Amino acid sequence: MALDRLLVTGGAGFIGANFVHYWLARHPGHRVVVLDALTYAGNLASLEPVRGCENYRFVHANIGDETLVEDILRREEINAIVHFAAESHVDRSILGPDPFLHTNIMGTHALLKAAKKVWLEEGESASDRRFHHVSTDEVYGSLDFNDERFSESSPYRPNSPYAASKACADHLVRAWHHTYGLDATISNCSNNLGPFQFPEKLIPLMLINILLGRELPVYGDGRHVRDWLYVEDHCRGIELVLERGRGGETYNIGANAERSNLDLVHAVCRAMDALFSADPGLRRRFPDSPAAAGRECSDLIRFVADRPGHDRRYALDAGKIRSELGFAPAHALDTALARTLHWYLDHEDWWRAVMDHSYADWVKRLYGPLDRTAG
Ligand code: NAD
Ligand code: DAU
Repeated sequence: MALDRLLVTGGAGFIGANFVHYWLARHPGHRVVVLDALTYAGNLASLEPVRGCENYRFVHANIGDETLVEDILRREEINAIVHFAAESHVDRSILGPDPFLHTNIMGTHALLKAAKKVWLEEGESASDRRFHHVSTDEVYGSLDFNDERFSESSPYRPNSPYAASKACADHLVRAWHHTYGLDATISNCSNNLGPFQFPEKLIPLMLINILLGRELPVYGDGRHVRDWLYVEDHCRGIELVLERGRGGETYNIGANAERSNLDLVHAVCRAMDALFSADPGLRRRFPDSPAAAGRECSDLIRFVADRPGHDRRYALDAGKIRSELGFAPAHALDTALARTLHWYLDHEDWWRAVMDHSYADWVKRLYGPLDRTAG
């Protein structure tokens, strides 16, 4: 399938931004239009490296703006929608589920309607157009320690408002394929790590707290297990599904790299102890870190109240994408973690800015007025 004109929703978020960089580097002649509402999790600085690139355009808009999306699909002659945009943080969904239902369910619904209208009702041919929906392993619910990993045929048992909203979106995408004939694919991925992740998620939160000498809050007993994948490997998996996956199919993307949260937090602590002891410059840059005074970073670990409804374990069987599409992750978890930590150390301006209230002003100074139109 010659998919060379992409609409990437949520491209200013963690995985979306990594995907834009990945795609433009590997497909230099392709057109990439990013549509992003720039919520707290969206960050134009993550797209700074492609600003000015003639094949790239940023549109500041909500995926729920159906008319605008239709207009982009027509004018830009989009032949692939890669749908990342979502409210993505489980803790926020527990505190306030409404935006999760609005964006993840109704936003996906609006995108599907726009794709159906422009591609199926107005278009001469629906072939060579694809809607790819980026989803999560959380739709399958929680595993016990000895359970088999989730496969594509595992039942949906979402436990958090976030997971329930993603499950609903998956079902809508499936229905649009089945009922209207929209060429649609879905990928369900495990926990990602890598550059550009907002520091509310486990790994960047722990790392930055270490640097600033803040406590490391481990929920419950810390024995909850997550299955980790380097974000670039996720992008490769999406590329394979987009280009060669079968329409109407779902593919799990994972690396079979399970770790308990406590083990992972200890791994981050050990890595930071080693980096500080090898580099005196870090001690000067981050004097509040225990490592600056020669103490172990793990001194900061605190067990705190558990997340309500906390899923015990996620683990994905990625056999289908491996056997059908030849997917193999290129990064082991240890190297992925080291790369991620180095990225955050090398991009202190990025994470300080997203934690800073002056961020909006900074973006205005950097970019000027945002493009809110589809014209
Ligand atoms: P993120 O929170 O970092 O980014 C989400 C992006 O979507 C932000 O740029 C935000 O501004 C944008 N957005 C939110 N609401 C919008 C709206 N209504 N209209 C337009 N843009 C909007 O999320 P992420 O971690 O990059 O996740 C991306 C996708 O991948 C999500 O669909 C998520 O469910 C899925 N996923 C994430 C992981 C993970 O580990 N992070 C794993 C599996 C699947
Ligand atoms: O599994 C894929 C999912 O992974 C994605 O769909 C979500 O968008 C993404 O946020 C992530 O969800 P998690 O809830 O697994 O990620 P989070 O980083 O919030 O938490 C990872 C684990 O660490 C989880 O068991 C909760 C725990 N945790 C998290 C935080 C933020 C802590 O113990 N302390 C913390 O401070």
